[in-house]
Amino acid sequence: MLLLRWGLFLIFFSVVLAERSIYSTHDPRHSHDLETDTTYSLNVSSCPGYTVTSVDESNTGLIAKLDIAGAACNAFGRDYTNLTVEVVYESQNRLHVHIYDTENSQFTIPETVISRPPKPSDSFTDSSDLVFNYDSSPFAFWITRRSDPAAVPLFDTRLSSLPPTPIPPVMEGDPSTALDGFPLVFEDQYLQLTSSLPLGTNIYGLGEAVSSSGFRRDVGTNGGIGTIQTMWNRDDPDPVDENMYGSHPIYLEHRYNETTQKSQSHGVILLSSAGSDILLLTPPSSPVSLVQYRLIGGTLDFYFFSGPTSQQVIEQYGVMIGLPTWQPMFGFGFHLCRWGFPNLTVTRDQVIRMREANIPLEGKSY
Ligand SMILES: *[C@@H]1O[C@H](CO)[C@@H](O)[C@H](O)[C@H]1NC(C)=O
Ligand SMILES: *[C@@H]1O[C@H](CO)[C@@H](O)[C@H](O)[C@H]1NC(C)=O
Ligand SMILES: *[C@@H]1O[C@H](CO)[C@@H](O)[C@H](O)[C@H]1NC(C)=O
Ligand SMILES: *[C@@H]1O[C@H](CO)[C@@H](O)[C@H](O)[C@H]1NC(C)=O
Repeated sequence: MLLLRWGLFLIFFSVVLAERSIYSTHDPRHSHDLETDTTYSLNVSSCPGYTVTSVDESNTGLIAKLDIAGAACNAFGRDYTNLTVEVVYESQNRLHVHIYDTENSQFTIPETVISRPPKPSDSFTDSSDLVFNYDSSPFAFWITRRSDPAAVPLFDTRLSSLPPTPIPPVMEGDPSTALDGFPLVFEDQYLQLTSSLPLGTNIYGLGEAVSSSGFRRDVGTNGGIGTIQTMWNRDDPDPVDENMYGSHPIYLEHRYNETTQKSQSHGVILLSSAGSDILLLTPPSSPVSLVQYRLIGGTLDFYFFSGPTSQQVIEQYGVMIGLPTWQPMFGFGFHLCRWGFPNLTVTRDQVIRMREANIPLEGKSY
């Protein structure tokens, strides 16, 4: 099942690459795109990461300028040389971190499709429950709770917080789960960002999925193998551990602190429509689990929700993404639906037979 899913993704991935490369070399370890005269290394281990060159702080957050920290690696696309990191403390409980190409040529979801909350008129930089921390060289960031600065960060992209690389395939027989490196990778056709997570932590979400591990996702501990959640809508009703109808790249993490004996939840969404894989893995003997985002386009647009209860995380998410649309009254009634009714006559006959049999029916679709 995993192989099948990953196979499908690879097929898709190669189609995308093939579109850009008219001819490629026969060496399977890298491919050459004659159109752009770029050789892709197909391996992120030599990706240099980025360095902060300037930071502009304001009363709503900061804007940092980043330059690539070495020669482009062109792993699966062409590296952007200049990035911008925009951090906005949008409310007491919502922090927005957007990493984008300074030239703004990557796709982002238009406001007409998903409208974002307006810029804050108050300053939350000193009062937000969440704190944005960063290193300049290489650029890495981590998110902490203001109320609990000593605790393990909620999200942490520092190399020092992640296991050493390269790591051979974490899922047996699936070469795509090799972890060649954890630098920030920002290319036109490949983006990668990795955060460490507490070993075996509780992750919920990353839908739409029928998850074989239940609501709690498999992060690769306690006999689990980990998760590759593909975000790519494909109108498949009930595959297990695969992508389905919708993409909801948000997760809720629930943590229990043994010292304080308190539980707290927070949420993380990557607001992107790009085809992507979100991996939850625990490499062998690693002291941490990790979440890795791999995108084939777009930007790295994260929102963090501070909770601290699970219900509050979902409420905070609703405030940001928008609440469900109003439903028609009949939508709450008795509904009959089956895929494959060929025409209106057959559908109407069905309604007539339901009435004849005295079965209540308020809605019918096909
Ligand atoms: C990527 O390159 C590194 C360094 O050369 C190597 O150790 C690793 O095995 C490579 N990964 C794959 C999947 O070939
Ligand atoms: C982009 O990055 C390059 C390479 O580091 C640097 O020389 C250049 O000044 C940067 N451009 C901008 C607009 O920051
Ligand atoms: C648990 O909470 C205490 C007190 O806030 C903190 O010092 C500690 O680092 C926390 N533990 C973890 C694993 O985050
Ligand atoms: C509707 O579909 C049924 C079943 O395929 C067929 O027998 C019937 O001729 C169709 N009616 C019309 C109006 O197309």
